[in-house]
Amino acid sequence: MNALHDTGRITRQEAVSMLPVIALAPEPGAVVLDLCASPGSKTTQICEHLGDSGLVIANEVVRGRVNTLVSNIQRHSSRPAVVVQHDGRHIPKVPSRGFDYVLADVPCTGSGTTRKNPEVWKKWLPSSGISMHALQFDLLRRAIAVAKPGGRIVYSTCSLDPIENEAVVSRAISEGLARVIPAGDILPKVPSNPGMTSWPILDDSGIVSEISPELHFLKPTEDDELSSQLEGCLRVWNDSIDGGGFFLAILEKEGGEARREFDSKVIVDDRGDPVSTPVPVNETLRSVLCESWGSAPEHIWTRGKSILWSTEEVERIWRAERFRRGGKILIPGDRWRPLKVIHLGLICARIRKGRVERLVSKAARRLSNEISEPFVRVKSSVFHDILLGEEPASEQIGVSADKKGSFVLIDDDGTCLPVWIGSRVTPMINESEKTVLRATMGLTVSDKEV
Ligand SMILES: C[S@@+](CC[C@H](N)C(=O)[O-])C[C@H]1O[C@@H](n2cnc3c(N)ncnc32)[C@H](O)[C@@H]1O
Repeated sequence: MNALHDTGRITRQEAVSMLPVIALAPEPGAVVLDLCASPGSKTTQICEHLGDSGLVIANEVVRGRVNTLVSNIQRHSSRPAVVVQHDGRHIPKVPSRGFDYVLADVPCTGSGTTRKNPEVWKKWLPSSGISMHALQFDLLRRAIAVAKPGGRIVYSTCSLDPIENEAVVSRAISEGLARVIPAGDILPKVPSNPGMTSWPILDDSGIVSEISPELHFLKPTEDDELSSQLEGCLRVWNDSIDGGGFFLAILEKEGGEARREFDSKVIVDDRGDPVSTPVPVNETLRSVLCESWGSAPEHIWTRGKSILWSTEEVERIWRAERFRRGGKILIPGDRWRPLKVIHLGLICARIRKGRVERLVSKAARRLSNEISEPFVRVKSSVFHDILLGEEPASEQIGVSADKKGSFVLIDDDGTCLPVWIGSRVTPMINESEKTVLRATMGLTVSDKEV
């Protein structure tokens, strides 16, 4: 299991944590925002829905957690993901027409996770939920603002506290820009309860208390229409499923024309992106790739020494112009600003001194359908020898001894094995990948590896 996880073939998460993306149900080709994305379990689940199309902007505000997000996206070998770092409460609306889908899986007190984290049970206080409410509301409000008219927004937490859930949703829908779609219609078989319409406000001794008038939004709404919408939210009680507790609300942004993003006194802001930002490869680099690979796929980008592989929609959004401040500022296309992009797509090769140094093993199988080199067709028995620790001589695989360097062996099933060919053939994969390949090829796998 560890090897399957390390190599990105599986991602382990609490079963209930998979519900938000199932409820979001993004279609291939869609433009999606994952507003609070790290460590990325839901981003990669969204990528599964999108396949090799569409775009998911995966946002995280905390620098250290952005790195985790990037590595998990790489582990999964996703092409549509673009990692950005913003405070989600102020994330820019790029693309200007808004996102087809927005996931707001917001920070919370985690009161639904007491089985897996018993410490939460000991430390949780009613004031903890109250202290999260403002951030959660601001994040949901921004999620609604950046969705396109008619777009779907899913708000979720792993808390069961109504102050962090129904009170947030109630306050957001009271602004009239979105409404709740009954979750039971979309997730009919999930063992769950409807959203709550009444709850007490407690102090930290658990006594029902009055709340100051300026915090009235923490109390249940007295509006019957809003209240009946709240029943369409979904609660999974940890006790009833013997697992994690969870809350989600599915919202649809009200339709109508998107606001016209144009002002007669428009100012053009054509500052470029920082140099570390990914850009599509230029003609020179494309010809270097073609020389090395025989051809180069579409939607290839570069950042530093990395070659990245993305999707048509990612490139389309990068190329399109966009507006800020209600149409007062125009930012021309061919850049990411005002988005602060940290990473994008699947790293598929490394460049050194203007030449392709090597193909990255994670991308090898997918690239084998697109390019001819540096692939060398071999019989599976050659893989067996290498995986069992015997390093065959280069002539044994039909590569002449004077041709040294980085190659990818590929067998009739399309399994790929990056190797370094010198006088011997040496595998260039980590132990987890070797374990998985040995297991899939029916070779011996030790108990320790399982
Ligand atoms: C519940 S976790 C998200 C889990 C993630 N969706 C997943 O499934 O892997 C919430 C994340 O939001 C981040 N966060 C906190 N405040 C934020 C803000 N203002 N803007 C964006 N992200 C924020 C936290 O650092 C944390 O990584």
